[in-house]
Amino acid sequence: MPHKINRTIITAFLISISLSLGVNVFADQYTHDIKLTKFDKPPAGEKNNINKIANAQRKLQALRYSSKNARKLRNVHPKAHGCVNAKFTVNKDIKKELQVGLFSKPGHTYENVKIRFSNATTEISDDIDKTRKSSRSRGMAIQIPNVEKILGKKVLSIPRQKGTQDFLMINQPTFAFKNVEDYLEITNLQIAELELKGEIPSSVLTFLGFSKEGKPTKHFREAQIIGVLSNTPLADPLETQYFSAAPFLFGDNQVMKFSAKPCAETAQVTPNDPSPDYLRQAMKKSLNEGEACFDFLVQVPPIPEGNFSEILGLEDATFEWIEEQTHLAEFPGKFKKGISYTKVAQIMIPKQNFDTRANDEACENLELSPWHSLAEHQPVGSINRLRNPIYSESAKGRKNRMGQQMKKKNQIRQKN
Ligand code: HEM
Repeated sequence: MPHKINRTIITAFLISISLSLGVNVFADQYTHDIKLTKFDKPPAGEKNNINKIANAQRKLQALRYSSKNARKLRNVHPKAHGCVNAKFTVNKDIKKELQVGLFSKPGHTYENVKIRFSNATTEISDDIDKTRKSSRSRGMAIQIPNVEKILGKKVLSIPRQKGTQDFLMINQPTFAFKNVEDYLEITNLQIAELELKGEIPSSVLTFLGFSKEGKPTKHFREAQIIGVLSNTPLADPLETQYFSAAPFLFGDNQVMKFSAKPCAETAQVTPNDPSPDYLRQAMKKSLNEGEACFDFLVQVPPIPEGNFSEILGLEDATFEWIEEQTHLAEFPGKFKKGISYTKVAQIMIPKQNFDTRANDEACENLELSPWHSLAEHQPVGSINRLRNPIYSESAKGRKNRMGQQMKKKNQIRQKN
């Protein structure tokens, strides 16, 4: 099912989907030895491939970034539109069967919640690439503190976890790569692209087997998602819906995907001549004028008889759970219909000025990961297993670099 995709859009999107490339990863360890859920079905050899990707990230890091970089930023989503303070309130009337994990205290308000809005590029760049007129994938990352204490429930025991429940989302219901195998292929191509500096076609075009006519000849589902991701306009980060894309546990015997949706419909008018940081400006204006609100929704399908993993696409992050209508064109074998969203909580972002140097600094220092989670919401599936070592190693990398810089500064001060 070939889908024609504008070559320039794909090329522009190249940068933004270079997910995780350049991560300073020294991990040899696989998923930090966490017991996998009964919904995980890793293929033979996966551990090996995750380690290969983790080590490849280190190489990409060396190829991409000069050591003169003033400060090491996140290797994916480095550009924040801003971090905001919020409250996360579980519905008072949440159905009994949905009172699971974080949602087990009806009416409870989690305070001091942080939300970081970002672009999914690997570099700090304009919010819209004007030369190519392409947009970018966007992120919304929520961190709810003290859940372990408040709920008296276990969080997953991985390095750098501080008893929080994090929810990381992008503004599409599917991820651009289906599993570890896909990711290894694109990672290797990106290394080749960087090493051969323009002598071979772009890694994404190669990954999709792009023909001279501008059509992919393989990975058609990925091509479809990449095309949509790079062409989704956005007026204000507070005005779009975000999705987990990958599945997570919902108690011992069920799985969920989650989503944050603006409480009210919005007009979504992108400015004619957007400034490089227009999304920060838009969010600043909105929150100077008043509060913002998102409904937090979950999809919790019944577990089907038979091969539930395949029927629900649990090992495939390009698989969509559709309520009624898909965000993409229907793609055979890549969706399950009739999985409805239920509102379980509300996120209130009070009127505030987040655009200060101190707040940006605190925002930069946040560490978010899908594996910062209650055991009852453990990440599930191939792409999530891959993310386990990557996020903590990335955070460790940027913190180590900062530590070294502080030490250098102090040494210089002492000398003087
Ligand atoms: C369902 C798929 C995915 C979603 C929804 C997602 C979403 C996000 C979001 C929203 C952030 C920003 C977090 C923040 O604001 O601090 C982020 C960061 C990051 N992502 Fe992903 N991501 C996905 C898959 C991946 C994959 C497959 C990799 C690589 C293996 C990856 C690597 C990273 C890294 C390294 C960071 C920065 C971590 C840090 O330094 O704190 N992501 N991701």
